Amino acid sequence: MNAGAIAIPEISESEFRKLSALIYERCGIKLGPEKKALLQSRLSKVLRKEGIPSYEDYYRRVISDRSGRELIRLIDLITTNFTHFFREHQHFRYLREHILPEMRELGAKGIYIWSAGCATGEEPYSIAITLLESPGVMDWRKEILASDVSTQALEFAREGVYPEERLKGVPPEWRRKYFLKEGDRYRLKDRVRRMVEFRRFNLLSPPPWRGCFDVIFCRNVMIYFDQPTKRRVLGSLLQALKPGGYLFVGHAESLLRLGDGFRYVKPSIYRRET
Ligand SMILES: C[S@@+](CC[C@H](N)C(=O)[O-])C[C@H]1O[C@@H](n2cnc3c(N)ncnc32)[C@H](O)[C@@H]1O
Repeated sequence: MNAGAIAIPEISESEFRKLSALIYERCGIKLGPEKKALLQSRLSKVLRKEGIPSYEDYYRRVISDRSGRELIRLIDLITTNFTHFFREHQHFRYLREHILPEMRELGAKGIYIWSAGCATGEEPYSIAITLLESPGVMDWRKEILASDVSTQALEFAREGVYPEERLKGVPPEWRRKYFLKEGDRYRLKDRVRRMVEFRRFNLLSPPPWRGCFDVIFCRNVMIYFDQPTKRRVLGSLLQALKPGGYLFVGHAESLLRLGDGFRYVKPSIYRRET
């Protein structure tokens, strides 16, 4: 059969309901009715390519796949991985100018940071560069864990090769210092790549880390979640932080009435109460 010739019908209300409920249940992403066309356009390519006659058949294929690979692929298709180096750069400055000196004063010898929802890696690598550019922490043990639910985004992140537009926040001096130009792309040098450990992790699962991070970046991830899911994820982030540890969220996000156990520091910056 020529799969390319298959005519894909429109997604019905009930198919949309089933698929969006599955996505919500498995990764917390709420697709409102206005996202119906988006879901259809992202999935129709798979249906066409693989000769799957309807969204109902596709749904059944996902839920009956015991390996979980179909679900991961579905999640890859619907997540939005937009990011760039030094996005919301004030957070990196706050890390360098406030958190690191404060920790040094308290006698710290190391720092453990989690980039939760790291997408294609620009965020954790920006953290790594910030640490390398902070002379006061040169001899510290520096560990950065970076996680995302999207396997495709993580593959890209591990490669560490970026088109120029993602580097718009990187000053020319740092480009020379930390990247190798390969045609029209930029490859991160190994000394930066080695500082970051990437792992697939769904923020809806209970994190295996307790009280171990000094800082967590969870920026522009919870915007896709509804209030109960945000509350649940914030509870996990709180547990994963050390008492007094910092949480950065995206600039458009707020923990107002959600973040029990967090103290407000300034917009988009919070601390775990001690
Ligand atoms: C817009 S990107 C944010 C990237 C980066 N933190 C930033 O602020 O630039 C959102 C990321 O959240 C991830 N994400 C969405 N739901 C998730 C979940 N349940 N668990 C882990 N990551 C999730 C997506 O795969 C996507 O890569």
